[in-house]
Amino acid sequence: MASTTDLAVGIDIGGTGIKGGIVDLERGELISSRVKVATPAGAKPDDVLGAVREVLDTLQVADSDLPLGVAFPAIVKNGHTFSAANVSKEWIDFPAEEFFEKGLKRDIHFANDADVAGIAEVRYGAAKGADGLVILTTLGTGIGSAMIYHGDLVPNSELGHLQRAGHDKDAEAYAAYSAMERDELSWEQWATRLQWYYSHVEFLFSPDLFVVGGGVSKHADKFLHLLELTTPIVPAVHRNNAGIIGAAALSRGASAQSLS
Ligand code: BGC
Repeated sequence: MASTTDLAVGIDIGGTGIKGGIVDLERGELISSRVKVATPAGAKPDDVLGAVREVLDTLQVADSDLPLGVAFPAIVKNGHTFSAANVSKEWIDFPAEEFFEKGLKRDIHFANDADVAGIAEVRYGAAKGADGLVILTTLGTGIGSAMIYHGDLVPNSELGHLQRAGHDKDAEAYAAYSAMERDELSWEQWATRLQWYYSHVEFLFSPDLFVVGGGVSKHADKFLHLLELTTPIVPAVHRNNAGIIGAAALSRGASAQSLS
C-alpha cells in the first residue's frame, strides 16, 4: 500500500460523465474504484459542482487531506475557463478554480482534461520515454488534445476545433466518438473521418507519436489499424482513466517540466 504522500484524488469532468478515483502516484494507478456519475444536462456550474461533490462523497474523500486535481473540458488559464464546447456557455470567462474551491471548501489544482491525460500518458503510459513531439488526442464527446515536446506540455492546444475546409462543422463535430454514435457509423466509416483528422494534424505538426485516449481507446484494435499514417499511433495505456490519473498527478505538482 502506498504511503499517503503518494496518494491524490483525481476528478475528470467530461461532457458526458464525471469520473473520479484515488490514485497511487508512485505507480500511476487507481487504488480505489472508479466512480462515475452522468454530467448533469446542460452542465451548468452549480450542477457540475453538485456532481463533483457526489463523486467525492462516494469515494469518501470529501473531507480528506489528500490533494485534489480537477480536469475540465475547456481552455483553462490562471484558474479561469475560457471556452465551452460541450458544457454550459456560463463557463466562458468563468473563475472556475475559485468556484470549485469555494464550493468544495478546499484547495484544488485545475487544468484542461486532455492536457492532464497527456501528463498521465507521458509519466506512466504510452508516451513514457518518448522523444520529440507527442500528440495525445482524446476521442469522446469532443476531441481533446495535449501536445508534449520533449516532456514539456504546450497547454490548451485545442486541436479538436480544427476547421475542415468547406465545412461548417469542426473536427470534433465530424470525427469525435460522439459523431460516430450520432451518425451510427461503422468502425470503417468512422475511420475514414479519423483518417482525415490525423492526416491533417500530422501534416500540420509532424509529430513523433500519436496517443489515442478516451473511452473508445479500449476498442483501439477495431479502428487504429485502419489508419494510414507515417506517425506511429498507439492507444493510451490508461484508456479513459488517463484524465483521473493526470488530474491527481497535477495536484502533486506534476508540471510540464517534471514530466520527462
Ligand atoms: C474542448 C477541449 C477538451 C475536449 C475534450 C473540446 O470540446 O474544447 O478543451 O479538451 O473537448 O473534452
